Amino acid sequence: MHRSRLRSTLESGARLEKTGGGIPHPGGKLSDIICRHELDGRRNYINPKIIRMAGSMALVIMNSTPLEYPGGEEGRLYQDKIDEVIATGQRVEFELTWNSYESPACTLINLVPERDSHGRIVSVLAIGRDITLLKRFRQDLERSRTQLRELVAHRERTREAERKHIAREVHDELGQQLTALNMEIQSMRIRYEKCTPQLQAQLDRIHTQLHHTIAYARNLVSRLRPSALDMGFIAALEWLVEDFKQRNPGCECRLILDGSDLCLTEEVAIAVFRIVQESLTNIIKHAHATQVHLMLHELETHVLLGIRDNGSGFDTKGHYKESFGLVGIKERAIMIGGELQLFSAPGRGTYIELHIPGTHIETKEDE
Ligand SMILES: Nc1ncnc2c1ncn2[C@@H]1O[C@H](COP(=O)(O)OP(=O)(O)OP(=O)(O)O)[C@@H](O)[C@H]1O
Ligand SMILES: [Mg+2]
Repeated sequence: MHRSRLRSTLESGARLEKTGGGIPHPGGKLSDIICRHELDGRRNYINPKIIRMAGSMALVIMNSTPLEYPGGEEGRLYQDKIDEVIATGQRVEFELTWNSYESPACTLINLVPERDSHGRIVSVLAIGRDITLLKRFRQDLERSRTQLRELVAHRERTREAERKHIAREVHDELGQQLTALNMEIQSMRIRYEKCTPQLQAQLDRIHTQLHHTIAYARNLVSRLRPSALDMGFIAALEWLVEDFKQRNPGCECRLILDGSDLCLTEEVAIAVFRIVQESLTNIIKHAHATQVHLMLHELETHVLLGIRDNGSGFDTKGHYKESFGLVGIKERAIMIGGELQLFSAPGRGTYIELHIPGTHIETKEDE
């Protein structure tokens, strides 16, 4: 193609951009690349931006089809999209990734059919915007999100291991010593009961305090690492419900189960346990509910866990400063590859639904 023709194309292109040229212009800016394709895909117009970018290659680009330039897989995709616009008469948007000089570049291309006065499609206008940077930012953001998730998952695993360790220490060391003290006091009571009755009242008080301390230590151990989990996931849920009832006697709490022999892998069981634990704590702290239902249904592909309360509810779009319970619940759900949904509104109670994927369910034979 002659340079003079290219120049005239350039000039007509510049006019076109200034006036709009009667061609549909889907939000294109001067920084966009614009070209026009004939029905066989051949370009009959490229705008100044393409000419500037392409330099001597502009001659090659002009008058070529996408199959010829850029060619390859990208060219095939581009040509197919042009054919699609011609076949359907509809505008098409797609991303074209191609290897530019140093690194892959990505262009968002809008293809718009152009019609004559009879409504027949006569050409296809392509408007492309360079979204390479945007893509790179998105990928970076996605990568750092994934890293953050991995970090949170790692931190959770470490915390659980630490909790388990502390629970064992409290149980084995503190528990043993408290039990030994208890036995000492019992024997003192027997030995001095008769000869020093004034000691009796004091020993009784020490005995009662010791009982409270033992109960407190047991409770602490259960909270840190619920021994109920060792007896199975359902037993752990039952323990949570009992604990809830004791802490919140004014509220009815029901556990509705189907699939009683359900057993999850340890990591998933702990994560779900913590989700339920935080949800129930939130109900005690914030909901002022009178009824709570904890439901577990085993379905073919997954397990469904639901926690419903009839309490105050809250605005789920609100930003709760210094509040990390719900964030933790969501992170744990992602950690196990589950899906979590939260429904709540002021005055309408709260419902949390968790889908636990089936791959985490151990069958009895696996054990
Ligand atoms: N079941 C519920 N009923 C009513 N409000 C709730 C319920 N669950 C959560 N909320 C509201 O959502 C907010 C955020 O809950 P979240 O668990 O994240 O934080 P928190 O309980 O305030 O603090 P923490 O970080 O100790 O958990 C709460 O402050 C409360 O206002
Ligand atoms: Mg909370």
